[in-house]
Amino acid sequence: MFIWNDWYVAAWADELKEQPIGRTLLGEEVVLFRGQDGKAVALENRCAHRGLPLSCGSITGRGIQCGYHGLTFDGEGKCVDVPGQDRIPPRANLRRYPLVEKDQMLWIWMGPPARADASKIVDYPYHNDTTHWPHRHDMYPIRCNGNLLIDNLMDLTHLGYVHGQTIGGDADSHVTATMQITPKDNGLHFMRWMMNCLPPPTFAKAVRFGKQRVDRWQEFDLHIPGAIVQWSGAIDADTGAKEGKREGGFSLRLFHGITPVTESSCLYFWSASNGYRQDEPQATEQLFAEVGRTFKEDWSILEAQQRSLSRYPERNYVDIAADGARLHARRVFERRLAAEQIHVPVSA
Ligand code: FES
Ligand SMILES: [Fe+2]
Repeated sequence: MFIWNDWYVAAWADELKEQPIGRTLLGEEVVLFRGQDGKAVALENRCAHRGLPLSCGSITGRGIQCGYHGLTFDGEGKCVDVPGQDRIPPRANLRRYPLVEKDQMLWIWMGPPARADASKIVDYPYHNDTTHWPHRHDMYPIRCNGNLLIDNLMDLTHLGYVHGQTIGGDADSHVTATMQITPKDNGLHFMRWMMNCLPPPTFAKAVRFGKQRVDRWQEFDLHIPGAIVQWSGAIDADTGAKEGKREGGFSLRLFHGITPVTESSCLYFWSASNGYRQDEPQATEQLFAEVGRTFKEDWSILEAQQRSLSRYPERNYVDIAADGARLHARRVFERRLAAEQIHVPVSA
């Protein structure tokens, strides 16, 4: 079950170059391409003639040309050319999905187009602020339900066990962290503090702390169904981080975009922004490599978890104290799902 009436990341803006891209999003086949006017477009990925995916075609001055018999469709999904005949069959149109380019991402609306409101897209201005937050991004196709990835990001006690060699640090500091959750209509905000702890390997590699121990924070904003905005960092212990002084140590921002492919697979769009040595491109590269390594650790955990859950779907699982944010996120998801009207794909 998917939430249809919301915006999801379909691609990084710079993924769209000369070639179209075919993607399964919320179970539907979509072709993404950038017209010669530079505008990014999303259409049903199935030619109106004999059904070849248009992602096998090519981009022309008039839109996208099917790679089989050459029909061309414009950015609205309207057939504008049929080789060898003047008449355009009136039904030769494709579904168009609203697509908005914002903050270096392409956001797609998979529900009824009339309900798409671009002002509701999550803001992430840091992607455009390359002076203060230079970043690199990636996308991992993960064979797990998208909600398992949200669960993962809502319960950071896993850092000490899964990410001991990267951003984790020692497990005890995670278990004793304080966590303040603020529920919101469409998600939640949480603030997590790990006081007077050792900096994890990724942090220690990135900056030279003045003291051996640091105060460390993780601030998350969850926007159901598919976006999480994170700011994390650490400064020398007892120098006022909790009171608002968060400059001068290690600091990074992470964007997480989670877009369902099927019930048991999703696309994980993530970016890592360097907030400590902004003038050094190699520092941004190093951060990107470390975060990528960290998220690959999650990737294998999530796929193993999905395999286990799929094998024993009826098993009841227990909740523990660390599940507070995760449980709230699930409640919001269920509420949103219940509020959805039945989705009937136009192509059905
Ligand atoms: S299948 Fe696309 S033109 Fe024939
Ligand atoms: Fe993780």
